[in-house]
Amino acid sequence: MSSVTQSDLPTSAAVYSPFTLALYDLIVVHLSCRFVWRCPSVEMLALYNRNTGASHLDVGPGTGYFLDHATFPVPRPEITLVDCNLASLRSAARRIKRYSPRTIQADALQPLPMEVARFDSAAANFLLHCLPGALHDKTALFDHLKHQVKPGGKVFGSTILGRGVEQGWLGRKLMRIYNSKGIFSNTEDSLDVLDKALAASFRSYRLRLAGTVAMFEAVV
Ligand SMILES: C[S@@+](CC[C@H](N)C(=O)[O-])C[C@H]1O[C@@H](n2cnc3c(N)ncnc32)[C@H](O)[C@@H]1O
Repeated sequence: MSSVTQSDLPTSAAVYSPFTLALYDLIVVHLSCRFVWRCPSVEMLALYNRNTGASHLDVGPGTGYFLDHATFPVPRPEITLVDCNLASLRSAARRIKRYSPRTIQADALQPLPMEVARFDSAAANFLLHCLPGALHDKTALFDHLKHQVKPGGKVFGSTILGRGVEQGWLGRKLMRIYNSKGIFSNTEDSLDVLDKALAASFRSYRLRLAGTVAMFEAVV
């Protein structure tokens, strides 16, 4: 994928413009996570703190909030950011410039264009619910991430589910709006399908539901 511009991207990625990214931490990380999806962002930060390695791949980093606040096992982790959207890549890279991250513009639904098995950890946080298609197909992402991680390394992240979870009034409303605009594609995403996909890709994993958010941590 070379120099794809904002207008070439699907809505699920194009919605992250410099303007919306400036509001993202407040609206999504701080307010929606806790009050709409009922999974406070400290839960996701704990996921990062438990699983990030010295060499870390982050797919769909958004503003880089979690990378900025996470505690890494070494003072100078080697971080690679992958996103199909240059605005997100620039925003996250600026946020964590103290780590001099490498940035790669690529589509997470395609095999990733890097040397395999080089990372200690890989994260896809709040990404699957944005990707278009059925969860069964989107979880091809797990194999793409798995190939980038060393044996014994970790793959982790979280995603908002649409089926088999209890949504509040605002959650139902936002799910309808976001899915109709193509910002989310998750009305049929269920814990059961996610569980099967993790079992098919990893030798061991942990899957947990907090509010309407599924959090996964797997060992390669
Ligand atoms: C909801 S944000 C998640 C941000 C961050 N991971 C977090 O947890 O706060 C989704 C991110 O995924 C990126 N994205 C969407 N579709 C993508 C795709 N097909 N391939 C790679 N990145 C994608 C967007 O540009 C955005 O940076």
